[in-house]
Amino acid sequence: MAFPSAIGGRSQYVLAIAGATGGLGLFISKAVLQAPYVSHFSTIRLLTRSTTSAQARELQSLIDRAGGDSPGKLIQVDYDDSKSLGSALRGVDVFVNVLNGDVPQNVNDNIVEALAKNKVKVYIPSEFGLDERLIDVDVEIWRLKKEHVKAAVEKSRGKLKVVLIYTGFFLEGIGLWTGFDVANGVFTSVGSPNFPIAYTARADIASATARLAILSISPSTADSVPTDVRIFGSSPSISQIKDFAEKKYGKKIVLQVEDARSWKKELLESNSNDLLKWVRLFAGEGKFDYTEENHRELVNPRQSFWKWKTVQRHIEEGGIDPLP
Ligand SMILES: NC(=O)c1ccc[n+]([C@@H]2O[C@H](COP(=O)([O-])OP(=O)(O)OC[C@H]3O[C@@H](n4cnc5c(N)ncnc54)[C@H](OP(=O)(O)O)[C@@H]3O)[C@@H](O)[C@H]2O)c1
Repeated sequence: MAFPSAIGGRSQYVLAIAGATGGLGLFISKAVLQAPYVSHFSTIRLLTRSTTSAQARELQSLIDRAGGDSPGKLIQVDYDDSKSLGSALRGVDVFVNVLNGDVPQNVNDNIVEALAKNKVKVYIPSEFGLDERLIDVDVEIWRLKKEHVKAAVEKSRGKLKVVLIYTGFFLEGIGLWTGFDVANGVFTSVGSPNFPIAYTARADIASATARLAILSISPSTADSVPTDVRIFGSSPSISQIKDFAEKKYGKKIVLQVEDARSWKKELLESNSNDLLKWVRLFAGEGKFDYTEENHRELVNPRQSFWKWKTVQRHIEEGGIDPLP
């Protein structure tokens, strides 16, 4: 599906991004400030608590380089202050939330209020991971995310279009902390190592978010965007990732399998909020397998906007590094 055309060369839509300087937010900010996405917005507000951080300065120089032609604006905001957030969202059509997953509750409450007060039309909450419809345990961070979305819809009296983007694991997160220990030659799965697992590079998530923002706000395409959007760059199993790594590093890697039942029992008994441990379990339960139902063709038909980066390519290019 092509883009709906921008009106008069540049569309009138106002976009705001909270967490614009973050690990993922910086990629999204850079994507929307550049072609082919930038022309769809008359204003792009990049919200940050500090306009002097290194990341904020990087965004400012990208804006400056466009020589007055950029719709980008860095906006200092105090998320704890409903007035500050309210004015940052004045006139906004699309709001992308890329704040870190565990911001204090009052920040989420202020977002709900600002969305309703300003009659924001499209809201992309800070998801970017597991399809939360599959979560069958009560873990605080996901419960709060669900409650936040429900509150946003209710407070906006059904006039808000919410788009939840599920990306699986960040590609750059393949490393020691997710069970891939290259140095010692041991990969560990929790449960089956044979389920496909969705992985997406942050640059690709950024392009997909830009596309979904534009498709969701444009009247001619809004209906094509569902509430729950699943994407991935590639979906190898842990066994396949082991093969890619063995080839790249020229050494044998041992595949260890942790017992999923006792792993889960321990998490439940300790009422654990350790997300990493939960998502590793979910991977071994097949919950990151988006191969049957996904929206890759909606966001990037025939890879005409970008070429998805795969796990195999990521490993071939330098392998398994922790996120910066
Ligand atoms: N699927 C995966 O593998 C994966 C991995 C990592 C993250 N994620 C998800 O991606 C989303 C973004 O995560 P991220 O790692 O990019 O976030 P992050 O870099 O930790 O934080 C994003 C931005 O939020 C702002 N911020 C931080 N703490 C805040 C607070 N207490 N109150 C208000 N603002 C605060 C900061 O911006 P300023 O200081 O400029 O205001 C920060 O740059 C989250 O939903 C997270 O769960 C998914």
